[in-house]
Amino acid sequence: MPSPLRIGIAGLGTVGAAVIKLLDRQAETLARRTGRQIVIRGVSATNRAKDRGIDLARFAWFDDSVALAKAPDVDLFVELIGGEEGIALAAAEAALGAGKSLVTANKALLAKHGMRLAHLAEEKGVALAFEASVAGGIPIVKTLREGLAGNSIERVYGILNGTCNYILTRMEQEALSFAQCLSEAQKLGYAEADPTFDIGGFDTAHKLAILTSLAFGTAIDPASISVEGIEAITLADLDAAAELGYRIKLLGVAQRTPAGIEQRVHPTMVAKTSAIAQVMGVTNAVTIDADAVHELTLVGPGAGGEATASAIVADIADIARGVRSAPFGRPVASLIPARLAPMQLHEGGYYIRLSVFDRPGAAAAIATRMAERGISLESIVQRRRPGKAIDANGAVPVVLITHATHEKTIRLALEAAVTDGFLAEKPQVIRIERE
Ligand code: HSE
Repeated sequence: MPSPLRIGIAGLGTVGAAVIKLLDRQAETLARRTGRQIVIRGVSATNRAKDRGIDLARFAWFDDSVALAKAPDVDLFVELIGGEEGIALAAAEAALGAGKSLVTANKALLAKHGMRLAHLAEEKGVALAFEASVAGGIPIVKTLREGLAGNSIERVYGILNGTCNYILTRMEQEALSFAQCLSEAQKLGYAEADPTFDIGGFDTAHKLAILTSLAFGTAIDPASISVEGIEAITLADLDAAAELGYRIKLLGVAQRTPAGIEQRVHPTMVAKTSAIAQVMGVTNAVTIDADAVHELTLVGPGAGGEATASAIVADIADIARGVRSAPFGRPVASLIPARLAPMQLHEGGYYIRLSVFDRPGAAAAIATRMAERGISLESIVQRRRPGKAIDANGAVPVVLITHATHEKTIRLALEAAVTDGFLAEKPQVIRIERE
């Protein structure tokens, strides 16, 4: 049998501990599958004394993750520290710089420094693997990079943040408030340390940046993604969506358009009958539209120790076998710059919820503003909740669904409607994503 693969693991939180347990549990199977023993040589974390349910005395302890990354008897460094800068970046660079392969689950680090790290890995002839950085246990990186190498990809979209999907599911199913659902997600350990990363759409954007690079050969650049979070979604929107045959999901979408690759993260109306609409709770899903395979949807656990460990151990196994794919599926120098596609040019259907003063001519005026700009309405519903009188401000909810149109046209029509003085509140606009 060839020499063992010697690894160092930095970061022993939920995921790090789960990786050690999985490597222990599958040691024999992994040795058979890869033809090598996988041996943990050293570990590092902030708190040595914490009870993780693992016997750490078997491994060399390092207070300094950078020293572990550079240790002469470590061939592969697993970075599970987190954070886009600081010790995670220093240790990742130290490992690659010392000619060791790197496995990381750190989407924020990759979104910010992925190109630099990929250059370094290429220069040193070592692997940079990050299956766990997107959609937890779903093998989406390998699917895009290897499984679909013969396809031309048109669109990749998905539910990439379990916390947001959990919140939207609980709000829809239990009519709970946003704040209550967020607090539940935090207690269950799904949310990032700073939950604004989840609900503001930034975590999804980090993951989308990685998927876009794999799917379209663009350099990773989170600044080229238009990002909106779920903070403004109300129970009224979820109710109206349900009534009209839709669900609201926070999607990350990367799409080939005549103006280039459009990358966007925003709350989205999806048909209740679509595959993506069935994905509830903390589960993630990614759909790919490609010329040869047509449509492919992968669904699975997007967070959690064991699921994430499954992806990390798959990367470790690849490296044990001697597999060293180009991190983004092609030489780093051939990745093309990404650029921000202006959302004003986005074309699609729209959900618009208006709070309209209940006066003669109000609905007609709004419909006129739409018609003037050639916006075709799929449906228009004036709805008052059963038993509920007109709002205190004398307004009733009116929900419009449009056929495909440009975002700029919608925004101009709504500006005109606001100027007409029939609207009691700022309009709520949610894009519709068709299958
Ligand atoms: N906070 C992330 C989520 C964890 O909710 O999906 C996994 O990246």
